[in-house]
Amino acid sequence: MASYLIQGGQRLEGEHRVQGAKNSALPILAATVAARGECVVRGCPDLSDVRATLAILEYLGCAVKREDGAIVVDSSTLQRCEIPERLMREMRSSIVFLGPLLSAAGRAGLSAPGGCEIGERPIDMHLEAMRSLGVRVVEEGGRLRCDARNGLKGGRCSLYFPSVGATENLMIAASTAKGVTVLTNAAREPEIIDLAAFLNACGAKIHGAGEGTVVIEGVERLHGAEHTVIPDRITAATFLCAAAATGGEILLRDAEPGHMDAMLCVLEQAGCRLRRPGGSQLHLRMPGRPRRLPTVRTMPYPGFPTDAQAVFMALAALAEGTSIITETIFESRFRHVSQLRRMGAFIRVEGRVAVVEGRRFLQGAQVDACDLRAGAALVVAGLAANGTTCVRQIRHVERGCEHFEEDLRLLGAHITREEDDLGPTEEACQT
Ligand code: EPZ
Repeated sequence: MASYLIQGGQRLEGEHRVQGAKNSALPILAATVAARGECVVRGCPDLSDVRATLAILEYLGCAVKREDGAIVVDSSTLQRCEIPERLMREMRSSIVFLGPLLSAAGRAGLSAPGGCEIGERPIDMHLEAMRSLGVRVVEEGGRLRCDARNGLKGGRCSLYFPSVGATENLMIAASTAKGVTVLTNAAREPEIIDLAAFLNACGAKIHGAGEGTVVIEGVERLHGAEHTVIPDRITAATFLCAAAATGGEILLRDAEPGHMDAMLCVLEQAGCRLRRPGGSQLHLRMPGRPRRLPTVRTMPYPGFPTDAQAVFMALAALAEGTSIITETIFESRFRHVSQLRRMGAFIRVEGRVAVVEGRRFLQGAQVDACDLRAGAALVVAGLAANGTTCVRQIRHVERGCEHFEEDLRLLGAHITREEDDLGPTEEACQT
């Protein structure tokens, strides 16, 4: 088990180059299975979730290599359509291989990914979306066997919730279905637009990605393509919150401010001075202590992203005044609350609503990262706290934040990564 050891109280100052978006890289790498030929994907962050995806691609028989910072996948040697439990378990989002395998081979065998630290994570919308393309789904003993005996057929599908993953699976599978598919109430996240851009570069005909209705005209087959993933809007916001929490100043490079409006509005209303020098740069300066946040309510894009909820709560814990944060997307995404309380945060939770009374100071403590974004929030709190904070179980954080402690050290943080011999301490993460 590894931990971060943080000496708090250092003002962060400097420049940070934003990593490529994890939640863009993962579906795009999975989608290479559907493209016959070689795909070159640039800007993939070096994360355990990306490595888990590459392991699945290799298991399926694809040729995978890293070349000049890009990931090169050739799926012409695909020889399997089944992903074993041990690989599915590594990463919940491996359900996004369902669409690519159905597109490439007309069948797929996966295990239901099951819940994770932030909630139950059902896949009913994924399966309904596949059925709308003529796919037969058999679920037994936690395994899913899907096949499209007579090939994938274009159809109509309306999601009861704009699920990111279900939108991704449907777009990929429908790309090579016979006929036209219309998806309504689709997710609108920037990662959806990025995936559609990759698929269209492979020869797909997807229209309206990023809007509520997406139309996919099926084509015979997809060919290889080159693509660079978009910047990671969530890790970008994490570094902005780290600078704001320590009263610091940061210039983000390779950012995409246009994907971050909801979060930037909250930061400005909390007293941050934001400036857009142009292009992919974004500058934040935090004079003094943050003010209470305006009401934060997580919503599907373009609303406030659920993935940023924890790190903004860390900022709220230090703000002047009381902030109200409501989590509407996942049912147990407040597991960082108990850990922030160990640092002196004053947070009351009633159902999906957290009432955060800001404190002038937090105290360093030993805390546990319960999931990726909760762990990042504890790092932000530790950077601002008085004294030493030890964030344990950082394997969660390393799923999504590329060379996190090195980049924070470049900004002046006193943070090191320590190996410890502690076993998992899941019980610490009860809400
Ligand atoms: C993606 O997860 C992201 N993961 C999540 O980021 C992100 O929080 C989420 O979208 C929402 O933006 C990746 O892209 C790899 P959903 P996904 O399907 O696709 C329910 C991170 O920290 N639902 O939009 O799984 C579901 O339980 C991760 O980077 C069903 O009920 O999210 C949730 O309550 C965490 N049935 C809601 O919908 C379904 O079939 C949104 O889920 C599918 C989803």
